[in-house]
Amino acid sequence: MSKNTEVLLNRHDAVLVRGYMPHKNIFGMAGMGYPAFVQRAAGARFWDVDGNAYLDYILGFGPIVLGYDDPAVCNAIADQMARGTVYGLAHPKELDVAELLVEVIPRAEMVGFFLGGSAATSGAVRLSRAYTGRDKVIVCGYHGWHDWARPGDVGVPQPVSALTLAVAYGDLDALEDCLKQHDNQVACVVMETIQAGGPPEGFLQGCVDVAHAHGAVCVFDETKVGFRVAMGGAGEYYGVTPDMATYGKACCNGYAGSFIAGKREILASKACRKAWMTATAHGDPLSLTAIEVVVRELQRRDGIAYQWKIGNRLIEGVNAACEAGGLSYRLIGIGPMPRPVMAESDRTRCLNMLRGCLARGYYLHPTHPMFLSLAHTEADIEDTIAAVGEAIAEARGNHR
Ligand SMILES: Cc1ncc(COP(=O)(O)O)c(C=O)c1O
Repeated sequence: MSKNTEVLLNRHDAVLVRGYMPHKNIFGMAGMGYPAFVQRAAGARFWDVDGNAYLDYILGFGPIVLGYDDPAVCNAIADQMARGTVYGLAHPKELDVAELLVEVIPRAEMVGFFLGGSAATSGAVRLSRAYTGRDKVIVCGYHGWHDWARPGDVGVPQPVSALTLAVAYGDLDALEDCLKQHDNQVACVVMETIQAGGPPEGFLQGCVDVAHAHGAVCVFDETKVGFRVAMGGAGEYYGVTPDMATYGKACCNGYAGSFIAGKREILASKACRKAWMTATAHGDPLSLTAIEVVVRELQRRDGIAYQWKIGNRLIEGVNAACEAGGLSYRLIGIGPMPRPVMAESDRTRCLNMLRGCLARGYYLHPTHPMFLSLAHTEADIEDTIAAVGEAIAEARGNHR
């Protein structure tokens, strides 16, 4: 660990509340030899506080899809900033962007804007409860930090936790059993659409059907997946229509906006019209501007297909290099979201390989799903694959 990083980590605990950023796990990552503090970023790269550059495959945990300093976003944001960053009235851009999203997300009929993925998923739960008049929620995956999404966590009241039930991904029977057990009490099933290696055949449609059979709303949490696997996320990719879907992260290329999109029958119902979901900055013009540019640029540059292309090549190349080198590190899942896995027994060697990649300027994550951007070139991907091979060979050399 560099002196710079050590000094910053020491300052950290004195002034910052730990709980606000555990997912970044900077102490754990620094302990594994990863950089903990970033100084700046541009294109597909970031620079740490020691000036080392890395090709970034985590991209802010998903938001950066066009590239950090994408000129189309920067120019549009600069233009909007000069005209105001928050207003006390509605503005036409809300309608423009909502209409654009309804056009590009299959079968979405209405849209509501939020800030942050957690607020969007909470909005979907609030609306489902309002619509059904029921209190319980079945979750599957990670849906953010709000009370309903973190049952049993420190600081979450027990009566709130008791309203959230959880089921395992891919297990339709477990979902059906849970709905039966809590018959007429479940407002919605909130499903993180792509987990592990992706959904088993028919699973997502099954979730919708089973939820409906029990009078519950089916919400697809597309926070990580939207604008990557397809503009509308896994629902669009697998041809399944949920009642509502939530989006965040990549929709804004690094701005904080998020939104829900769904069926008019629910979202325009009398009960949902009354649900309180307002916040000072919901529908902020900077996020809306970013959404508009992200949609247009993904369309103009065939950005979804490009993420699939380079993501598939990364998976194929890294896995071949690891297999040839006798290492258990693998990328599983689907092209736009390669997910790393490794055998526990082989962890030390895999981490050595990843540190070798870091030393060469390639930031591959040990555990979290990774992401691609339109700023990653095909040459970047080939160089990454070569770096994996070199890092394996180097680690082997060191052991001789
Ligand atoms: C599937 C999913 N839902 C919701 C969230 C919460 O989003 P945010 O961290 O922007 O509040 C995340 C964040 O990682 C997520 O991956």
